[in-house]
Amino acid sequence: MGDSDTKGALAPRRRVTSAAGKSASMLPVNGKSAAACESSVTADYGHGKRDRSLETVRAKSKSEKQKRRSYTSDRLSSCHKTQESLLSSGSGYNNYRGILNWCVVMLVLSNARLFLENLLRYGVLVDPIQVISLFLNDPYNWPAACLVIVSNVFVLVALYTERQLSKGSFTELVGFLVHCMNMAIMLTLPAAVVLLVPCVTPVGGAFVLGTYTILFLKLYSYKDVNMWCRELSTIKAKTLARSLSCPSAQHLNGGDPKVCYPGNLTIRDMCYFVFAPTLCYELNFPRSPHIRMSFLLRRLFEMLFFIQLLVALTQQWMIPIIQSSMKPLEDMDLSRMTERLLRLAVPNHLLWLMFFYGFFHSSMNFTAELLRFGDRRFYNDWWNSETVTYFWQNWNIPVHKWCLRHFYKPLLRRGFSKILSQSAVFFLSAFFHEYLVSVPLRMFRLWAFLGMMAQLPLAWFVSRFLHGTYGNAAVWISIIIGQPFAILMYVHDYYVLHYRQEAD
Ligand SMILES: CC(C)(COP(=O)(O)OP(=O)(O)OC[C@H]1O[C@@H](n2cnc3c(N)ncnc32)[C@H](O)[C@@H]1OP(=O)(O)O)[C@@H](O)C(=O)NCCC(=O)NCCS
Repeated sequence: MGDSDTKGALAPRRRVTSAAGKSASMLPVNGKSAAACESSVTADYGHGKRDRSLETVRAKSKSEKQKRRSYTSDRLSSCHKTQESLLSSGSGYNNYRGILNWCVVMLVLSNARLFLENLLRYGVLVDPIQVISLFLNDPYNWPAACLVIVSNVFVLVALYTERQLSKGSFTELVGFLVHCMNMAIMLTLPAAVVLLVPCVTPVGGAFVLGTYTILFLKLYSYKDVNMWCRELSTIKAKTLARSLSCPSAQHLNGGDPKVCYPGNLTIRDMCYFVFAPTLCYELNFPRSPHIRMSFLLRRLFEMLFFIQLLVALTQQWMIPIIQSSMKPLEDMDLSRMTERLLRLAVPNHLLWLMFFYGFFHSSMNFTAELLRFGDRRFYNDWWNSETVTYFWQNWNIPVHKWCLRHFYKPLLRRGFSKILSQSAVFFLSAFFHEYLVSVPLRMFRLWAFLGMMAQLPLAWFVSRFLHGTYGNAAVWISIIIGQPFAILMYVHDYYVLHYRQEAD
């Protein structure tokens, strides 16, 4: 009975096997033969134990049956469903990290080839000492450095004028005229020195004019903000409010007390503004609570690293290409000119990206950290620009902020139309671009001016006809191709003007 029961509980395969009269010991049940199980149960244990083991065997066989059934139904379950391919835009898939890595690997490999080719062709051209000669023609004459020192005079004149205005010693008109004269001299004096003194090098000249342009924009903002403060206090005085008061307990984020007009008209405040990484003056700048040493050192390291890399790559990569472009440009060989332009575009663009990071991220953050200047938004995500307008709004925030606050919005408030005000801003920007290039090179060709003014029709074209990714590609192309085009034009003209005349 026990045998037959056990067998009945077993799987059909096993029953068939025993019916066939074959040795049950050969049949596997969880690693043991059924006969072996049965004999061990009968021989060694009593009834209770036998029942329990029978139950276990039954349960095991049941679960096995279930497993087999589910496996069979699994095999038949559908293996297809309606879905898009990953690379179709409808799939919603957007993890392209691997492809981005591939791009980087390809970029490194192709540039490694270029690098080797360059080394084999020209040898090592990097010469850090040569950089000094870019700033100095004559080691006993430092006109550029002298001009930078002289710039302090203009800062002091602006401060003095504002103090006189706050005390009422100068009328608004007199103050305005003094400011105008001060700023006009600021732009003309360095330009005249750079043009007339032969020992100023183009790089030294560009450095001086850059410094003066930044100071000019800062002092313009200083004049405007102090004037707005006076206007506000006049309005408050008229409405019998306490005009120049600040609640005494008010503090900025960094714990510094708030300053009120005319308490801001001090040398200390002026010095802070002159060195702060902004062109827009405020009486109370947002301040960070303390200087983070590790952040400061990292930015300093980046600055030094990028300066070295920029100089090395310019000497080793850019200059040979520029030199080899002179002949095709002279011969007006269009296909060769295009080839040289495209060849120049790659190093020029890489250098420009490095300059962007080195200047707008490393050096500006370094200065800001050192001065505990809180507003670190020096750039926005211009790399995602789908319109030219977005690019100009976001790549250089200090200049954009200045343009908006001191030029664009005042024009709009005076009733000028938006398009006219935008054109005026681009005109001003084009003027300064030309000023910073033409004066140091001592030749007026208007390429930079035209390049900047061309942004207006380009902005219209891109926003009208190209959208999304196409717009973004158009912005990138205009950056990658536009700059080397202007550089080649200037270098060619400079070469023709100076070296061909000498050769002739
Ligand atoms: C010209 C330029 C200033 C236009 O900027 P924009 O952001 O497109 O200008 P918008 O028309 O969108 O208006 C901007 C601001 O003016 C305000 N505004 C618009 N019309 C106004 C009006 N009639 N009165 C007052 N304010 C007005 C807007 O509200 C907006 O204010 P917000 O910034 O506080 O939001 C910008 O393209 C620019 O900076 N270009 C030159 C950049 C440059 O040369 N950089 C050199 C880098 S090397």
